[in-house]
Amino acid sequence: MKGKPAVNVSSSKRRRPMAAGVLLLLALVSTGAAYAVTTSALSAKSSSAANADNARQGKLLFTEGCSSCHGLAAQGGSNGPSLVGVGAAAVDFQVGTGRMPMAAAGVQARRKPPVYTQAEIDKLAAYVASLGPGPSVPKASQYDFSDANVAAGGEIYRLNCSQCHNYAGKGGALSDGKVAPQLMDASPKQIYEAMITGPQSMPVFSDRQIPAKNKQEIIAYINYLQSAPDPGGSALGRLGPVTETVFLFTVAIGALVAFAIWIGSKAR
Ligand code: HEC
Ligand code: HEC
Repeated sequence: MKGKPAVNVSSSKRRRPMAAGVLLLLALVSTGAAYAVTTSALSAKSSSAANADNARQGKLLFTEGCSSCHGLAAQGGSNGPSLVGVGAAAVDFQVGTGRMPMAAAGVQARRKPPVYTQAEIDKLAAYVASLGPGPSVPKASQYDFSDANVAAGGEIYRLNCSQCHNYAGKGGALSDGKVAPQLMDASPKQIYEAMITGPQSMPVFSDRQIPAKNKQEIIAYINYLQSAPDPGGSALGRLGPVTETVFLFTVAIGALVAFAIWIGSKAR
């Protein structure tokens, strides 16, 4: 018993350089392991954490730019409606088309160049979405119209949209000084969002009324209207054969009358 401590002391003294090396190695390995564990845990958590982060930053943007009308908690105020439950899609549409922030109280928010970047809009949308369930921003696959039938879309459009937006998407007047805007500038995503959120006096078109596939067909049709060239000069509002006939009749008869007068003046 008496000899043992001595042996231990001397042996531990002899091993000290080795022990230090082992300790260093252990420290390195454990830091490495800890790093690996925390980073994988972080990346697993990152999507939900990023969402919460977006919502938090969105709340700051909202307080600065929107709360004067919509209230500090988006509960609504004297100058703007409650946004609880309108969903991320409504924010993406309203801010993405520049309608919000509304410059001044008026009959209707008009489309204008957006004030916020898409990254900021995503944050505002995450904040509003965190307040209550509502339609989320559609995924690219939802408004992809590359396989959609344009002619079928034209029929559904004439049935559901043309009474307000005109046959050719040129827009039209509604009551009380409101207007259904022309559709020439709306992107496929914004067309989809307009249908699922129903901005202002536009109705919401649920998937029960217009199934997802038909929404894509409508988008394909509006895209066709946006990109179709007007053959042979002025479009004349694309109102069809009646305007075209009236126009031609007036111009042609006018030209004939002018010609007759000219001949008459020569003959004299
Ligand atoms: C000057 C007041 C004002 C400001 C500022 C403002 N809004 Fe609005 N907002 C309104 C009014 C009024 C309406 C409803 C009228 C309309 O839709 O044309 C509205 C409608 C909306 C809607 C549509 C709600 C629905 O039921 O679909 C959203 C979403 C929205 N605002 C988000 C925002 C966001 C986000 C901001 C800040 C970037 C903002 N607004 C700033 C006045 C304002
Ligand atoms: C009762 C009339 C009405 C009907 C029906 C209607 N809309 Fe609208 N739509 C509106 C009004 C009003 C607005 C403008 C809302 C605002 O200013 O906040 C609008 C806005 C839009 C916009 C945004 C345009 C832009 O450039 O920002 C799109 C896209 C749109 N509608 C598509 C459609 C489609 C597609 C249909 C058919 C499925 C449809 N609308 C049916 C009244 C209507």
